Amino acid sequence: MNFVYSALPMRVVFGAGSLERLPDEISFLKLEKVLVLCGPRQEAVGKQVADALGDRCAGLLPEATMHVPVEVAARARKVAAELGADGCVAVGGGSAIGLGKAVALAHGLPVVAVPTTYAGSEMTPVWGLTENGVKRTGRDPKVLPVSVVYDPSLTLSMPVVLAVTSGINAVAHAAEGLYAPDASPIVSLMAREGVRALTAALPAIVARPDDLDARAGALYGAWLSGAVLGATTMGLHHKLCHALGGTLNLPHSETHTVVLPHALAYNGAGEPSPAELWELAGRLGAPRSLRELGMAEADIDRIAGQVASATFPNPRPVTTEGVRDLLRAAWAGAPPAA
Ligand SMILES: NC(=O)c1ccc[n+]([C@@H]2O[C@H](COP(=O)([O-])OP(=O)(O)OC[C@H]3O[C@@H](n4cnc5c(N)ncnc54)[C@H](O)[C@@H]3O)[C@@H](O)[C@H]2O)c1
Repeated sequence: MNFVYSALPMRVVFGAGSLERLPDEISFLKLEKVLVLCGPRQEAVGKQVADALGDRCAGLLPEATMHVPVEVAARARKVAAELGADGCVAVGGGSAIGLGKAVALAHGLPVVAVPTTYAGSEMTPVWGLTENGVKRTGRDPKVLPVSVVYDPSLTLSMPVVLAVTSGINAVAHAAEGLYAPDASPIVSLMAREGVRALTAALPAIVARPDDLDARAGALYGAWLSGAVLGATTMGLHHKLCHALGGTLNLPHSETHTVVLPHALAYNGAGEPSPAELWELAGRLGAPRSLRELGMAEADIDRIAGQVASATFPNPRPVTTEGVRDLLRAAWAGAPPAA
């Protein structure tokens, strides 16, 4: 057994109702005036957070947008500076947390994350910014949130189909972490527990959308899977989804859901089982074809060429022909290769 493991600092406040502990958390972090960031569709919860913070809230900016356009990042940085904020609280999914990271990258302001999806960005030092349709990403320890408040009650509003696709997005981090070149025993423990928690919770959420314990189970799995994402280097699956999202603007969590069984089958991964994941997605009403997400068949070759010419670690060599076959099956909604 050979491995290198480097722990990232991680502070987590978890549990239903933990949003009420946010003001104490802000005091604990010695922050005095924070800017609350969220997306336009999450303004109500952003306001709830701002109200809970009282005079420690410098302002609310409900402008987070998918993939963090540079113009939105520039505006958030300007508003944070004008208000004299000493930190940001990012409330929402990966888009809102990504905006907090963009401010941290420029000004070094600490980010407190309040995730409302299972995307996992709150556990990683990875930032992303999009300019002229091209997304750049990088790693910087200063964008890693200093504290993460996971309150499952905030996820009750997630429509069931988003909960399922976002949950499978999280499973993807854990699954690729298991065969990553920088995997290690402790990360694999987190990955297996993340998959277990998510695959148990998602059917329960579909059966009973108001079940707070099921929502908590999924958020717990998302935390672990996000930590795996932060600790390892992702392979073919994430590269494919990045290309499909960046080039064709396909929706993030739905694309992960469709591609994952096929990418795992390509890599010969047995854990989690590609066939079982494909069956689970179908049973839970999630999309299973790239065609239904709006991808044109003619784009298969373009994405296959783009991904096969990129450099990234993967357990199996990546060929244009291999990726083309994988994408054809994912596009058509066929089961993953045996
Ligand atoms: N840097 C990283 O490490 C990292 C990791 C994962 C994802 N990401 C990025 O995050 C983005 C995807 O994140 P996402 O899937 O969370 O999408 P998102 O943040 O764009 O949210 C998706 C949609 O769900 C809505 N939503 C979020 N929470 C909700 C809730 N509780 N109830 C109802 N609606 C809710 C949002 O308003 C939005 O319309 C992508 O841009 C991806 O690249 C980055």
